[in-house]
Amino acid sequence: MAKDYDAPPGVFDLLPSDPKEPWRSSYLWSHSESIMRNVAKNFGFAEIRTPIFEKTELFSRSVGEETDIVSKEMYSFVDRGGRNLSLRPEGTAPVIRAVVEHHLQHAEPLQKLFYIGPMFRYERMQAGRYRQFHQFGAEALGVRSPEQDVEMIDMAMTLFASLGLKNLSLQISSLGGKKTREAFREALKNHLKGSFDALSETSRRRFETNPLRILDSKDPQDQLALKGCPSILDLLEDDSKEHFIRVQELLNKLQIPYTINKNIVRGLDYYNDTVFEIISGELGSQNSVGGGGRYDTMIEELGGKSSPAIGFAAGIERIFQVLISQNSTLPKAPAPLLYLIPLGERAKLECFELMAFLRKQSLPVDMDLSSKKLGKAMQRANQINASFVAVVGDQELETGKIALKEMETGKGAEVPLKSLPRILEILSKQKETETIIEELLRPFDTAEEAKFFINKIGGSVEETTHLIESLKKAVAQMKEIS
Ligand code: HAM
Repeated sequence: MAKDYDAPPGVFDLLPSDPKEPWRSSYLWSHSESIMRNVAKNFGFAEIRTPIFEKTELFSRSVGEETDIVSKEMYSFVDRGGRNLSLRPEGTAPVIRAVVEHHLQHAEPLQKLFYIGPMFRYERMQAGRYRQFHQFGAEALGVRSPEQDVEMIDMAMTLFASLGLKNLSLQISSLGGKKTREAFREALKNHLKGSFDALSETSRRRFETNPLRILDSKDPQDQLALKGCPSILDLLEDDSKEHFIRVQELLNKLQIPYTINKNIVRGLDYYNDTVFEIISGELGSQNSVGGGGRYDTMIEELGGKSSPAIGFAAGIERIFQVLISQNSTLPKAPAPLLYLIPLGERAKLECFELMAFLRKQSLPVDMDLSSKKLGKAMQRANQINASFVAVVGDQELETGKIALKEMETGKGAEVPLKSLPRILEILSKQKETETIIEELLRPFDTAEEAKFFINKIGGSVEETTHLIESLKKAVAQMKEIS
């Protein structure tokens, strides 16, 4: 195909498996998304899905007209009805728009919502920075307490840990209220005034429009000018100061390590009080895997009833890049439990019927439909990582027994066809069975634990006794047969 039709810069495809860029393998994404959903469930968050485009005004109003995101990074367009629309550059404003539009807080002022999906920013391309990227985000509405802030941070850190990320650092700060930010803006401008001419072009521009962003500059000249600049933390009002101290106490209580970075500047204007970023040393200059903070005024600004809120979002591409640079074991791509290789037309028909039957039992089974030569069909079984393979010819059909060969070990076992569904069922549940056995073998610390376990697996002491008797019988029966 002509290069003309390649995907535009900054976006990418997720292929079933991508050996060159393993993080672009779709199974990795679906596997990780289910881990993320599980963490969200454990923290009591429900999923929300909003459209990928919104009215442009929504973002200029909430994220801020002067931010880079709104002023130069949005994919904005006029639709055929003359509406100014933009692909969402972030997920918080759309979530709040939906909450206000559907009056979700009327029935229940406390809302804990999460989302997973693509965001769009026309950014300068570099490693770890894309124009369509994906976020997991969570927003908790209705509670202003420091506990809510720490629940959010704990959720972010648990999410990263559950996905297998290591050595992340959590940085926190406080931006205080509006008064504090205004005072800090002035103090910062006063500090930089003398060295204005030495500032980089971008920072000179930001001096008037958004001086806080200068703190974020990596330019050495800007860094020099910033030396000894005032700290926003010294300007916090009592209420914000107390809040920030309590957040630190609670992080200590949950043993979540953190550092205070008074220079955290979020690229979005809606924050107040607690802000945080989660940084990985493995990511080069785009080192933030996630970030968030409190935004207590957005809901009212977007037409809802005044309500506090806090949230965070994590960059999914960056999560995978950290995992890969840390040489973490990645999950295996899903593969068939059994691959059937029929030899001849009669076997093909029998296997086809068997496969359809097994699939109805929810068993992942596949077969060679193209009548390849045996060697080629075995190669295919290998390629798709089938756990077991069975070659079925006339002899197997006659005896009603097939040889199951385990691909990894090369070991085989002859199995009556009528036992196949049950055997595959057992094989497919191997992990669950192992967990139950592991639990059984682990001594219980208290009688209550033992009681809970018995209730869970058997329902009652009698049923559990029955289960153990059945297991004994199965062992005896097996010994007898072999
Ligand atoms: P953000 O810091 O702009 O916050 O983005 C969150 C995360 O998305 C970043 O830490 C990064 O991992 C990832 N990210 C951002 N831009 C890109 C990009 N161009 N390419 C790849 N990854 C990227 C927000 O979006 C806020 N809505 C977070 C929030 C939720 N605050 C409160 N609630």
